[in-house]
Amino acid sequence: MAGKVDVILGAQWGDEGKGKVVDVVAPHYAVIARFQGGPNAGHTLIFDGRKHVLHTIPSGVFRPGVWNLVGNGVVIDPVTFMQEVKELDAAGVDVRPNLLISRRAHLILPTHRALDEASEADKGQAKIGSTLKGIGPTYMDKTGRNGLRVGDLEQPDFRGRYGALVAKHERLFRIHDHHPEWRSQEAEWLAAAEAMRGFRFVDGAQWLNERLAQGDDVMAEGAQGTMLDIDFGTYPFVTSSNTISAGACSGLGVGPARIGKVIGIFKAYCTRVGSGPFPTELHDDTGEAIRKAGNEYGATTGRPRRCGWLDLPALRYAAMINGVTELAMMKADVLSGMPRVRVCTAYRVHGRETTGFPFDLDDAVQPVYTDLPGWGPAVANKPLPDELEAYIAFVEKAVGVPVRIVSLGPDRAETLMREKAAVPR
Ligand code: GDP
Ligand code: IMO
Ligand code: MG
Repeated sequence: MAGKVDVILGAQWGDEGKGKVVDVVAPHYAVIARFQGGPNAGHTLIFDGRKHVLHTIPSGVFRPGVWNLVGNGVVIDPVTFMQEVKELDAAGVDVRPNLLISRRAHLILPTHRALDEASEADKGQAKIGSTLKGIGPTYMDKTGRNGLRVGDLEQPDFRGRYGALVAKHERLFRIHDHHPEWRSQEAEWLAAAEAMRGFRFVDGAQWLNERLAQGDDVMAEGAQGTMLDIDFGTYPFVTSSNTISAGACSGLGVGPARIGKVIGIFKAYCTRVGSGPFPTELHDDTGEAIRKAGNEYGATTGRPRRCGWLDLPALRYAAMINGVTELAMMKADVLSGMPRVRVCTAYRVHGRETTGFPFDLDDAVQPVYTDLPGWGPAVANKPLPDELEAYIAFVEKAVGVPVRIVSLGPDRAETLMREKAAVPR
């Protein structure tokens, strides 16, 4: 029987814990494949007392015998990529034998990073809060049909193509008020690009479909989250790719009928890093307490993450857009010990209550809360506290999708599988 592509993706604003879940389930898959985003992502894995943060490399690299594919939808910065390889080498993991890179993936140049910086600086107060990794400008060159791809590294005239794109970027800098210096990064970038040629480049779609035809199962690892999706997120405060399940098809080259499970990852609360609307954001001591307990600081930029209560209208919307078939609830341990927890069940917009998701999440959108009893300590090898079970059931009912994974700590082992979970009546 042909294999399936299951998808793991963020159902909120990113940093839900995708890396952890992918690492937990990776032994059940032949291939782990990233399908979009780039070094704006920071996926944290913790096991055996060690922490690893991955940006471009899929989260299956620590599992022996699992293939890891960087798909065509990903944008790659050779410098970050080689840095990741170096860190993994130092941790005793040689990624080379099991890592494949699609020739169609686009390359992030130093000028893309500089353009990202210039664009954000020009925007001033209205900035997106980009990670400044060059993501937006690289996807602009992709859709503008100017980009450089991994396969170009194998072409004899690569330096000429590189020079032509840089020349275009130099013309672009003229429209910006800010002109970040980038030349000093060029030599390092060219050396890293050269070093990347030592990796195995493939026609990712061809390779993946052959594996599927042989009956191998694939896990597509999303980056960012649904609320940061270019089409369905809180535009313009979004990233520049399709972070949703449909992105797995275009970012890997697989047909929709190949998609199996779609696992939506969410935290028991919400976080957001960067600018943009966040209806349930807490600006008080509770928000600070969640940030502290959850260690909510960006895995890529170190920025403090904004924290707030769980937003069910947004989660329901994410489940709809992605066709989520099961949910994974992360970081329930972070809320342990709170006497009560709040959940946003609807929005009030200009005095009218709605459970739908508005065009703009502007200041007119106010959360409507329900309070639920808090829970005590929760660990993976013991029955969950009744109050936590009730919280999970509340979410399952509101979203209409079962919670099949409950994560109770950052370590690989702190994970509870609820295979038989069903939506309560
Ligand atoms: P990703 O981008 O979706 O992979 O998530 P990040 O790695 O950016 O952020 C998730 C953070 O939460 C990381 O620091 C993880 O180690 C941590 N984490 C994941 N699951 C849990 C959990 O269940 N409990 C706690 N306390 N931390 C968790
Ligand atoms: P992972 O995969 C959280 C946010 C940035 C900014 C906006 C646009 O770790 O969940 P970009 O650099 O893409 O132009 O930034 O998106 N952002 C993320 N937030 N997790 C991420 O990835 C993110 N990647 C981008 O903070 O608001
Ligand atoms: Mg992250």
